[in-house]
Amino acid sequence: MARVLFSAGIPKAGLNRLESAGFELVPFSSPSGPGSLAAQAADADAVLCLLTDRIDEAVLAAGSGRLRVVANIAVGVDNIDLESARRHGVVVCNTPNVLDETTADLTWALILMACRQTPAAEISLRAGRWSGWRIDGYLGRDVHGAVLGLVGWGGIAKAVARRAAGFGMSVLHHARTPSGAPGYVADLEDLLASADIVSLHVPLTTETRHLIDARRLRLMKPTAVLVNTARGPVVDEDALSDALEANQLFAAGLDVYDGEPAVNPRLLAAPRAVLLPHVGSATVETRTAMAVAAADAIVRVLRGDPSLDRAARAQA
Ligand code: DGY
Repeated sequence: MARVLFSAGIPKAGLNRLESAGFELVPFSSPSGPGSLAAQAADADAVLCLLTDRIDEAVLAAGSGRLRVVANIAVGVDNIDLESARRHGVVVCNTPNVLDETTADLTWALILMACRQTPAAEISLRAGRWSGWRIDGYLGRDVHGAVLGLVGWGGIAKAVARRAAGFGMSVLHHARTPSGAPGYVADLEDLLASADIVSLHVPLTTETRHLIDARRLRLMKPTAVLVNTARGPVVDEDALSDALEANQLFAAGLDVYDGEPAVNPRLLAAPRAVLLPHVGSATVETRTAMAVAAADAIVRVLRGDPSLDRAARAQA
């Protein structure tokens, strides 16, 4: 019987899918430090994991060829050593598509909160600091009619773009490969200079680490807002803190951090930074759909199903 090692907290519907396929389910024993995860992976055929699990060479090599698939309940796979997986012949699956709409909803929450500075306004009211309506009180920036610049053009970026129509916005996007879609901007720096709101939707890779650095932040308008629901290290957080402190940027809305769950203390103190705890896909429906999609990918790989959707494979 095939053994599937699974991380704690995975929605039951995902585990049910594996159980009904007849697999033996083995929970990661806690705490699952890197060494102990590798030890447990030694007799597993599959690993169903979360983005907080580090799937490194030790884990991928542990079973000397027994491990066939790692399914990450996330679209991002930067917690997995893809090169090592390829070398060991382990298929890596992720959960694209099912979280696009939910993550786009949350991106819009951040756009609105950062542009209108609603968290600071609410904190002020709750603290009893609201002294009444003022013509210059709690001023933000308009969202409707603004230019939205999307960095990346995957499913989440497209879902964010669809919502922008309701706000009468012009939408630009940049991706490494020309998209052929209206609003494509070949040069990232042109997009940064033209957009009122820049939203990041790229995976974390060696090319995208600190993609938004001090120099690129300086290209943005001083009235602009930066939103990141992708991965923290795509932005140089110290450079972003500098930009906010110097009023070189109006605001930032972040859901992801370099080194999370630790949050750079400079960001915590930065003016007009709206900070959420990595909740882009956090709805009951979507987290369940992600777990089922990842479990389903395991079933298909272990059954040798040749119709395994290429989109569910995170590596070529
Ligand atoms: C992902 O899927 O990569 C998100 O960060 C969590 O949903």
